[in-house]
Amino acid sequence: MFSYKMGVLYERMYKTLLIFIWTCFCTDGVYDNNIVKSYKITTKPASTFYHDNGPFYWKIGKSNQFSGGKMQKIIFQGYPICIVRQVDETRELQAISDICLHRAASLSQGRVLSNGCIQCPYHGWEYRDGLVETIPGCPKDETKPSRIGIPRFSVKELNDDVYLCPTYDMNSEIGSNALTDIHIPREATDTSFRRVSGRRHIRRPHNLVTENVLDMMHVSFVHSFGNRLSPVPFKILYNDLDAFSGKTTFYYTAGPMSMSSVLGNAQFVKVENEFYLPDTTITRVFANNIVKTIVTHSYPIGKNESILHYDLYRNFLDSPVFDSFFRYQMDLTLDEDVEILNSVYDAHMDGYMNTKFDVTQIRYRKKWREVLSHKNSKK
Ligand code: FES
Ligand SMILES: [Fe+2]
Repeated sequence: MFSYKMGVLYERMYKTLLIFIWTCFCTDGVYDNNIVKSYKITTKPASTFYHDNGPFYWKIGKSNQFSGGKMQKIIFQGYPICIVRQVDETRELQAISDICLHRAASLSQGRVLSNGCIQCPYHGWEYRDGLVETIPGCPKDETKPSRIGIPRFSVKELNDDVYLCPTYDMNSEIGSNALTDIHIPREATDTSFRRVSGRRHIRRPHNLVTENVLDMMHVSFVHSFGNRLSPVPFKILYNDLDAFSGKTTFYYTAGPMSMSSVLGNAQFVKVENEFYLPDTTITRVFANNIVKTIVTHSYPIGKNESILHYDLYRNFLDSPVFDSFFRYQMDLTLDEDVEILNSVYDAHMDGYMNTKFDVTQIRYRKKWREVLSHKNSKK
């Protein structure tokens, strides 16, 4: 009698267990019953992995490097993000977390299907706009939209460049939106300027790279085109442009063999050096009528590693024949910058003293500090 009752009990428990397993793994219940009932979308990993990235749009590449149906992974501050251009008529770019919800495989190693879904290479889960669309072997309830997925970030294309806001997940609606608009330099729409662009992987922190571009005194000492005979800038004037940007104007004496002397016939050169948080610098060098403008962006791959993008605009020697010369000049300049940045000591890179020639970097740091303290006070 006792063993018969126990047998019935065990059978019931076994059936209940089977139903539970089926509910969990072979229906929408796989997503967790609480989540399915909710109208909010849940994404993983949690925002702790991306919320400190800096609430701005960061330039991550050129439009022409992302072709339809191909995925590319970028690492932003240690977080892997998969960038894909839609195969439909919109041809829009999409940025989703590269970490599969199931077992964390890299989604960018998978495939873009003809229906526009991204298929994970490990067990074939399919994602649409970062939400789980199909799980092989687990029928989907067509009446319920998917409410679980991975973070999806905003991407914008402007001036043939691609910008990413890596702090706000559009699927779960968690995180921080960009604090400012993207700044596009006026040369981009001025037909008298010709542009060449390039990219450099630098094993140094992104802010060190950006500060170096804002450093007016290093030019004559570090760069072969600098004027060592008269290295000190003069008439230095800094102005805040707004809470996220600033501008310094200064002058220096043109070197006897410099382009400013030879082509611009200028004895003195005027420089306007602007920054726009998070990472844009604009350096305009005026030698009478000729203007050379260098725009840089530097985003963090990790703590001590970054990608620098540059654009060089010029309103002289504007034949495409000269493009390779200006690329060569930028490469040489960056080689010289990287060599000096590699010699900066990691534990002391903020330095301990400043001069008036460091004003632009100091203001750039200050604005970053204000953004971070405001953000932390809201936590
Ligand atoms: S890890 Fe992506 S489907 Fe399993
Ligand atoms: Fe430099």
